[in-house]
Amino acid sequence: MNEQQLKQSTQINQADQNNLDRLKNIDSDELIGKYFQATYEPPNLKKAKKRLKKDVDIHYDFSIPADMKEIGTGKKFLIRTYGCQMNEHDTEVMAGLLTDMGYQSTELTSEADVVLLNTCAIRENAENKVFGEIGHLKPLKMENPDLIIGICGCMSQEESVVNRILKKHPFIDMIFGTHNIHRLPSLLKEAMFSKEMVVEVWSKEGDIIENLPKVRKGNIKAWVNIMYGCDKFCTYCIVPYTRGKERSRLPEDIIQEVRHLAAQGYQEVTLLGQNVNAYGKDLEFAYSLGDLLDEIRKIDIPRVRFTTSHPRDFDDRLIEVLAKGGNLLDHIHLPVQSGSSDVLRIMARRYTREDYLELVGKIRKAMPNATLTTDIIVGFPNETDEQFEETMTLMKEVGFEAAYTFIYSPRDGTPAARWTDNISMDVKKERLQRLNALVNEQSKAAMEKYEGQIVDVLVEGESKKDPDVLSGYTERNKLVNFKASKSLIGKVVPVRILKAKTWSLDGELAEVKAEVY
Ligand code: 5AD
Ligand code: SF4
Repeated sequence: MNEQQLKQSTQINQADQNNLDRLKNIDSDELIGKYFQATYEPPNLKKAKKRLKKDVDIHYDFSIPADMKEIGTGKKFLIRTYGCQMNEHDTEVMAGLLTDMGYQSTELTSEADVVLLNTCAIRENAENKVFGEIGHLKPLKMENPDLIIGICGCMSQEESVVNRILKKHPFIDMIFGTHNIHRLPSLLKEAMFSKEMVVEVWSKEGDIIENLPKVRKGNIKAWVNIMYGCDKFCTYCIVPYTRGKERSRLPEDIIQEVRHLAAQGYQEVTLLGQNVNAYGKDLEFAYSLGDLLDEIRKIDIPRVRFTTSHPRDFDDRLIEVLAKGGNLLDHIHLPVQSGSSDVLRIMARRYTREDYLELVGKIRKAMPNATLTTDIIVGFPNETDEQFEETMTLMKEVGFEAAYTFIYSPRDGTPAARWTDNISMDVKKERLQRLNALVNEQSKAAMEKYEGQIVDVLVEGESKKDPDVLSGYTERNKLVNFKASKSLIGKVVPVRILKAKTWSLDGELAEVKAEVY
């Protein structure tokens, strides 16, 4: 940042002066050394794998420090969220913390006093987007040195990212990780008064902090964390490093949260975890996701979903409970990643194509109408044409109705990133195109089956494209658009499907309740 410009364009108060001093005196290498020694440990596979299950503490005594309770009065915040539902939900927690400190939310960066970027590290393009946004924020900071800009979420857990920010973007005020979101009030205070960038990224993998305030997005659907972290260490994946070890919330805390949401009128909850099927493995008593869902299905809330599943941990108890139906919806998102057993082995997924198909068979037997969707990575290092074809045949054999498809992206610190790769980007792109064409075909075919049927739709609001149209989702997560009174928003209503598109259904309000779907 140009100090001259900054001085000219603003009146200098103490906070500004601190900022300027910080920018002037910054010695990136020194800073990096200092912060990394104190608070940060880079991803280390060997260390990370030696996780101790037991040293997770659950804290119930969270409160905003007294001197921070009013600090945001008359001020505004904006949080930009990248990535998965876990991040979306973390944003709800940070919004809750800031609201309890007196801040109000805004959609405009120009109005904001605090801007947080809640980042995603899963693929390189997710990171590039964030660095692009950091670039856009620089002129804003120059105009308004009081503005506090923070980087949080998964990217902050990466050594290379923290390095790059310290070196190239010294105007950033704070960086904090995924394990210390609850420290936001104190970190914000430090950032306001500090001359230096505040970096607090814990390599300790995080306790569970209950009772954090939340400002949820909307009052129809809610996310509920059931566990944090992942111990699977798929060889391509950064998540076990950025989110830490698996740790489950206690069943009673989750059940109480869902009951509370039901009492507030929420119509749907999605139970969240990086690998929800591992729920309970770290608890001191025998308890699984199946057991938890068996309790949650008794709560008076119309719809319960869960994500994301790992095929390896998807056990018979869970299938037995899901088959009971009720508010447990028969849509299962079951990432397969590849149709080739050889690729699955080097991905360290710990199942084969045959294991996966056997699991699908069990699910279909117990829930004949279940909709299955998946995640697939193409162009894993050295994936052969034959191996890719196995993914194509698996896609058809299972009959997935939707799939999130990705080109493999090397992630620093993961084993796969160190391997040589003889597959060109052109080949990877071509494979992705072929796979996507198949995914679209299967999605359209699945959609067409709904024409003429009556489905239950949870109405979420006006359609993004046309405010005169309402939109919502079926139990099996199909997007439905139809014209009706806005008074139906937040309700589950029957809709007759008139026309199927590739990714959505058009319909009209029906009089009778849905029977089949
Ligand atoms: N490259 C590409 N896709 C990835 N995913 C996870 N890590 C990577 C990576 N390094 C995909 C997986 C996962 C989804 C959330 O993102 O398919 O299920
Ligand atoms: Fe990543 Fe999911 Fe594998 Fe965990 S189970 S390492 S989150 S892909």
